[in-house]
Amino acid sequence: MTERAKYGAAAVAGLTGTLPNPFPRTMGPNAMKYLQEVVASGLSCDMLGRFEKAFAEALGVKHCIATPGCTPALAALSAAFDFAPGDEIIVSPITDYGSIQGLIRENYIPVFADAALGTVNLSAETIKACISDRTRAILAVHKTGLICDMDPINALAEEYGLIVYEDACQAVFSEYKGRFAGTLGTAAGFSFDSEKTLGSDVGGCVVTNDDDLAEMIRFVGQSRGAVMEAHFGRKHVVPGYAYRMTQSTAAITLAQLEIIREQVAHRDKMARLLMQMMAEIPGVTPIPIPDYQGVYSCWMFGVSIDPTQFDCAPEDFAREMAEAGIPGAGLGEYYLMPAACTFLEENARSGVYPYSTPPASYEYFYSADSCPNARDFLKTWIRWSTFCEKYQPEHCELAAAIVSQVADKHRL
Ligand SMILES: Cc1ncc(COP(=O)(O)O)c(C=O)c1O
Repeated sequence: MTERAKYGAAAVAGLTGTLPNPFPRTMGPNAMKYLQEVVASGLSCDMLGRFEKAFAEALGVKHCIATPGCTPALAALSAAFDFAPGDEIIVSPITDYGSIQGLIRENYIPVFADAALGTVNLSAETIKACISDRTRAILAVHKTGLICDMDPINALAEEYGLIVYEDACQAVFSEYKGRFAGTLGTAAGFSFDSEKTLGSDVGGCVVTNDDDLAEMIRFVGQSRGAVMEAHFGRKHVVPGYAYRMTQSTAAITLAQLEIIREQVAHRDKMARLLMQMMAEIPGVTPIPIPDYQGVYSCWMFGVSIDPTQFDCAPEDFAREMAEAGIPGAGLGEYYLMPAACTFLEENARSGVYPYSTPPASYEYFYSADSCPNARDFLKTWIRWSTFCEKYQPEHCELAAAIVSQVADKHRL
């Protein structure tokens, strides 16, 4: 039988190594107290409201709508957008399925812009090449915690009348020119999944400054599209969802929020140290932090290796890194969404709705070759998502020593 994908703690359960692993997670000191409040109140306290208010205030936005994850957060947001089936949303090519699940369910069409050369994120230039008369929005994913260059993206969107929104799952409290990831467009999704930087239980949220959009997200994404009618009761006027965060997840997430800024500052420091050490190894290159980025809330660490300098395939290089003690080191080719979502190409070829005409008005193709920069980048990029707030300088030294040893062993 085919093995099912694993998430959260289960995904790293079997990993061994000399470097830290995020599990068991560092828990905010008030987690038990807040959980106890939920139980002691007989589930009647407003822990959810407290978390939403605290997260909105921490980011400096008007609304936070807490959900059971980022996948449902972006699904609720997609449902709240007033687009038509067959409308296109331009999305980062290197991301998680959670970025696109919701827009696919709304019968919008994902169009993957290529990554900018030598990095994981898209850019205004790669987006521009994908704009058509059906484009309605741009979804910028800040992969690993590195922020997309949002000013040119927003300028382009303004020129074409497009909405910009963000997937900030991997970039909680990363900073772009003094502003936080998730506050740089119309709305943003966050994940508080247990392995994420703000690791709670299975949770997430949407944030926005737009009152009408916030109301629509709550209505269609949480109230199941129902209104109260006098003398009748609930009437479902649109097909909505019930994506609400639980009170107990809100309790844990609130406690985690109280320790996150310190953890993010530490991650930033350790990631920069690790980058500096890795950059000294010939043939090994970390992704540069762009000049416009302030704090780097690094969720996942990775390096590119130059295959012309080594006598082994990048996959073998990564395996030896993992065997030498970096838990979970490996290639991440599965992040390439046009290749990973095989059903997209199947549906496009067979003209399944919304790839039928109408509502689609073009022929779409999805494969690794749709985004050659992203494809080539991922072939030689070795990453580990076990990088976490537990890293200390000695762990950075150890990781660099491991990479250096593997590199020296295979150097041509
Ligand atoms: C960039 C990105 N988007 C979306 C998701 C989905 O988030 P969740 O697991 O909270 O649904 C993830 C999770 O890995 C992610 O990394």
